[in-house]
Amino acid sequence: MQERRPLAKDRDLIVALDYASGKEALAFLDLFDQGIFVKVGMELFYKEGPAILKAIKDRGHRIFLDLKLHDIPNTVAGGLGSLLDWDVDILTIHCLGGRKMIAAARGALEAAGKTSLLMGVSVLTSLSQEDLKEDLLIQGDLEEVVGHYARIGREAGLDGVICSAKELAFLREKLGEDLVTICPGIRPKGASLGDQTRVVTPEEAGRLGADYIVVGRPIRQAKDPKQAYEEMRKAFLGGQA
Ligand code: C5P
Repeated sequence: MQERRPLAKDRDLIVALDYASGKEALAFLDLFDQGIFVKVGMELFYKEGPAILKAIKDRGHRIFLDLKLHDIPNTVAGGLGSLLDWDVDILTIHCLGGRKMIAAARGALEAAGKTSLLMGVSVLTSLSQEDLKEDLLIQGDLEEVVGHYARIGREAGLDGVICSAKELAFLREKLGEDLVTICPGIRPKGASLGDQTRVVTPEEAGRLGADYIVVGRPIRQAKDPKQAYEEMRKAFLGGQA
C-alpha cells in the first residue's frame, strides 16, 4: 500500500455541464462573474475534446473531469496518463475495476507528479439495492458494498469515492474522515428524480458531511440556472456560503 498523502479537503457544489455542445456549456458559464467548480463528463468531452477543458480553465473555473475509466490496469494507467496533460482538479475511475486497476491509476498520477484528486465511483447513484441483486448479481447490502469498494479503493490509492450522501455516515464510521467524498443524486425537495434513485436534498448532503455535491439537471433546467446554483450552493454550505 502506498503512503497516504495529505488530502485536499474542501467543500463546494460542482455543476455537471452535461451539455451536448461546448457552445451551450460556455453560454452557461457566461452567467458567472467568478470561477465556479464544474464537472465535464462524457457527453461534453466526447463532443468537444480537450479544447473544452482549456476554454473552461481560461475562464478561471475548476474542473472535475468525470470520465469514469474502467478497463484493464495497463489501459487505465495509459488513459489516465493522457488525461493528466490537461491538469484538471479531479479525475474518476470505477472501483469495480478492482484493486490492481486502481493501483495502476495511482501509479500513473505519481509517475506524472500530479496532485489531481483520484476518485473512485463506488455504486452509481442511479442503481438501487434491487438493481445490484437482479442485474449485477451482487447480493450484499448496498451500503456494505459501497463501504467495501471505498476501503479497497483507499488501500489501493484513491483519494476518495463518489457515493450517495445516504452512505456517508456508514463510510465515515468504517473509514474515518480520511476520505474525500463527492455526492451526486442531489435533488431539492419536490424536484424530478430523472434516472437517479439514491437522492438527498442539498441541505441533507451538507448535514451528512459531503465534501462536494454534484448537481446537473436541477440547475441546468431551472428557469434561472444561476439563481438555482446560488440557492443550492447556499443550502449545501449553510453558514459557509
Ligand atoms: O442531472 P444530475 O443532477 O442527476 O447529474 C448528476 C451528475 O453526476 C451526472 O453528470 C452524472 O454523470 C454524475 N454522477 C452520478 N452518479 C455517480 C457518479 C457521477 O450521477 N455515481
